[in-house]
Amino acid sequence: MDVLALGVGRTARVNILICCGLRLTETVKASRPPVAIVGTGAVAQALGRLLYLHGERVVALASRNRFRAEGAATFIDPSVRPVACADLPSLAGRVLIAVRDEGITPVAEELARAGMRTGVALHTCGAKGPEALAPLKRAGVACGVLHPLQTVVTREQGMKSLKGVTYGVAGDGPAIEWAEDIVGRLEGRALRVAAGRLSSYHAGAVMASNALVAVIDAAVVLMGQAGVEREAALRALESLARASIDNVFANGPSAALTGPIVRGDAETVAAHMDALDEAPPTVAALYVAAARRLIEIARERDLPEASVRALESVLGSVRLKADTTTAKSA
Ligand SMILES: NC(=O)c1ccc[n+]([C@@H]2O[C@H](COP(=O)([O-])OP(=O)(O)OC[C@H]3O[C@@H](n4cnc5c(N)ncnc54)[C@H](OP(=O)(O)O)[C@@H]3O)[C@@H](O)[C@H]2O)c1
Repeated sequence: MDVLALGVGRTARVNILICCGLRLTETVKASRPPVAIVGTGAVAQALGRLLYLHGERVVALASRNRFRAEGAATFIDPSVRPVACADLPSLAGRVLIAVRDEGITPVAEELARAGMRTGVALHTCGAKGPEALAPLKRAGVACGVLHPLQTVVTREQGMKSLKGVTYGVAGDGPAIEWAEDIVGRLEGRALRVAAGRLSSYHAGAVMASNALVAVIDAAVVLMGQAGVEREAALRALESLARASIDNVFANGPSAALTGPIVRGDAETVAAHMDALDEAPPTVAALYVAAARRLIEIARERDLPEASVRALESVLGSVRLKADTTTAKSA
């Protein structure tokens, strides 16, 4: 590349620029503290590889198992050293901890015991705040959270789906700074969350992903009661569910709401309640809980109080039936 840059004309100028650009990137990369990853799961590997590809100097990966560490380190890049957790403080000033939730504090304890006293540590769990890293914080390390609001099943899928998404970030100043730098590199959006409020934030994330699974599954069960086979029900419900989600995100939940509740149609809801008598108690309970929340949304959209009371009364009677079923099956 240097030799080509000695030529004249446009090609030479472009090559000079590329050459300088690479040198600049390498200089910036080298001036930043090295990064280590803890964990060998899908998040650790996908984020580790993405960080490596987006200019972070990932130098080591730690695991409780040498074999898994080797596989994960190689996936990030063959130059990444597979090591034990206790080796990390001497190798990296910034540590990204992506282990199973219950392992986060023990990993922080191990890093603190091994001498990590400065630098930054982030964990990737959305349900716990920076306090999960308390042993490191006490030792003098800036601690924080970098939680991808995304579901990651494999490292390959994670590589694709962790770019351009929202990340919840929380913690000490330097930790937030690193977390937001990572989010920027991955062309995502950082959502700052108060450190003591991670549980509410995570419950919201669970409602938007896992709870949807429960709701669609309940819909399939109810279709099954109508004689519709499972696969056919899933196919039939797909466009309805997708359109509802599109409408919610295009116009907001209130404007997106259609159906018997917002129309104040207590008769139809009463018929649903009769059908729910045959349904598993968890399915009936889910319908009733969702309907109650929908009544609140409909009320904000000026559903008359008489309709609200009629709907609540129908739901109240059915809740008792569902509870009786639960009691019987217990
Ligand atoms: N998967 C997702 O969709 C997702 C999305 C957002 C955030 N997260 C968060 O990201 C983190 C990692 O998620 P993941 O799905 O990649 O996790 P995972 O596959 O369940 O586990 C990751 C790794 O944690 C290590 N580990 C397990 N138990 C441990 C313990 N008690 N002490 C120390 N290490 C332990 C294991 O590595 P070794 O056995 O090799 O040590 C394992 O490979 C979690 O905090 C999770 O909440 C996950």
